[in-house]
Amino acid sequence: MRFRGEVVRRFGLKFDDIKLDHLADIVRSRAEASGRISPAWYVERLIASPSSSDEWRVLAEQLTVNETYFFRNADSFRAFSELVLPETIGKRAETRRIRILSAGCASGDEPYSIAMTIREVLPDFEAWDISVVGVDLSPAAIRKATEGRYTAWSLRSTPEPMQRRYFRTEGREFQLLPEIQRMVRFEERNLAHEDTRSDFWRAATFDIVWCRNVMMYFTSDVSRKVVQRLEKVVVPGGFLFLGHAENLRGLSQRFHLCHSHETFYYQRRNDDSSVSTEEEEVTCVVDSIPSVVDSSTSWFEAIERASARIAALTQSSSAQHLESSEPAPPLGTTNPAHSSTAKSLEKPRISGELESVLEATRQERFADALLLLSALSRETLMEPEALLLRAILSINGGELCAAEVACTELLAIDELNAGAHYVMALCKEHEGDLSEAANCDRTAIYLDSTFAMPHLHLGLMARRSGDVAGAQHELAQALSLLEHEDSSRLLMFGGGFSRQTLLNLCRSEIRASGGRR
Ligand SMILES: C[S@@+](CC[C@H](N)C(=O)[O-])C[C@H]1O[C@@H](n2cnc3c(N)ncnc32)[C@H](O)[C@@H]1O
Repeated sequence: MRFRGEVVRRFGLKFDDIKLDHLADIVRSRAEASGRISPAWYVERLIASPSSSDEWRVLAEQLTVNETYFFRNADSFRAFSELVLPETIGKRAETRRIRILSAGCASGDEPYSIAMTIREVLPDFEAWDISVVGVDLSPAAIRKATEGRYTAWSLRSTPEPMQRRYFRTEGREFQLLPEIQRMVRFEERNLAHEDTRSDFWRAATFDIVWCRNVMMYFTSDVSRKVVQRLEKVVVPGGFLFLGHAENLRGLSQRFHLCHSHETFYYQRRNDDSSVSTEEEEVTCVVDSIPSVVDSSTSWFEAIERASARIAALTQSSSAQHLESSEPAPPLGTTNPAHSSTAKSLEKPRISGELESVLEATRQERFADALLLLSALSRETLMEPEALLLRAILSINGGELCAAEVACTELLAIDELNAGAHYVMALCKEHEGDLSEAANCDRTAIYLDSTFAMPHLHLGLMARRSGDVAGAQHELAQALSLLEHEDSSRLLMFGGGFSRQTLLNLCRSEIRASGGRR
């Protein structure tokens, strides 16, 4: 559909095939409103005519999702008020100047929440030069933001004292006080366009950027370009908040991932020298070993036992792959249906040298694979895939220190590697640091929401610590993700267990903790 292609080109917004009817409805209704012309002629005119920019503004209102509310995802605002803002205030103590951008601000709820938080944290804010800029594609959203008038529904997450301090009730609506409105400036702006005529995207303009729940609507190409602009405009050491279901994996390595207040956000690196554009995802084949993991055993110990059995089996016969109907794809390939893992597939990343290691891993000759790996050139050994393989082979072989060293090295060059965070979680559990293990699992899940193993690990740890609700929640998540987990990744991270064994394990653990499966 030509119209869909033009929407991508102009606004970066992606519409899957199931949304085609929605697009057709918009075209029909706009053709009707434009003098009852035919939809085909409407699209023709829209694309051909240089004077169609007003019509595109109308379309922007209809094509965007403007859902938002004050203090959305309270955890982000806690991290902002308790950590990010104090650090920024400290850094700007001399100039007393702070610049904040809310990109994709919708009706203004987000930038106004930022302004209110600043008022709360910085009592002498009047002595500071603070600017909060909200930009959005939709003219209607910007109009509403400028009016500053909201319903109770928009304030559903706003703390009572803030409601009283910063809003005036007018009938059933809430009007923001001018003192907050004055702190925020709004402008209509298309993030998908570079806009070289203005200096909006000038380097190091903003101390903090919020761009939440916006990139999820963009094509991956446009997301990449927008992130490149954000890399540029955020000052070194400055911060970036994304929506809780969004991450920079496969998009940028120029930010450091921060995890606090049960949320994730990013800090612009001061130094880009360690930046790698590579990404992870590895594969191997491991046989199904029927095994009972009792809840007193740590997951690491269970993996160790399964791996030992694999080694024994491999010595006596060449192992049969339980999942022979799903032949192991080459290292670095994965199920393209999983968009987040598909991000890592943009270029083949397996050097010839690594192939032999991979082949030994496929045959479950883990010790051989490790030997082969250690014989590789230093350069190959430092490739992200080699480091991840080393971490996994080491953990399967019970070599905790080596696994942790490999993970640390990998995370130094690719901090957004979900697999490395998961293997690190296993290491931390074994060291007895359950809280850090859980943090590592949560980071892996944040970076790849389709990754089943960290949920399973969290569930097993929760069960062992007596957290029944937590265990049931995580195990249920693991169960549903395992059904569709990419087979190569499952075999790589499944610790020597087949899909069926892992599914059975989830079910029996859920039952044992009082749930029904
Ligand atoms: C779901 S809202 C998110 C609002 C707010 N950031 C939040 O998290 O609550 C997404 C916003 O992104 C805006 N948007 C979409 N594409 C855009 C583009 N190309 N340029 C600027 N804004 C865009 C939409 O108009 C919409 O208001």
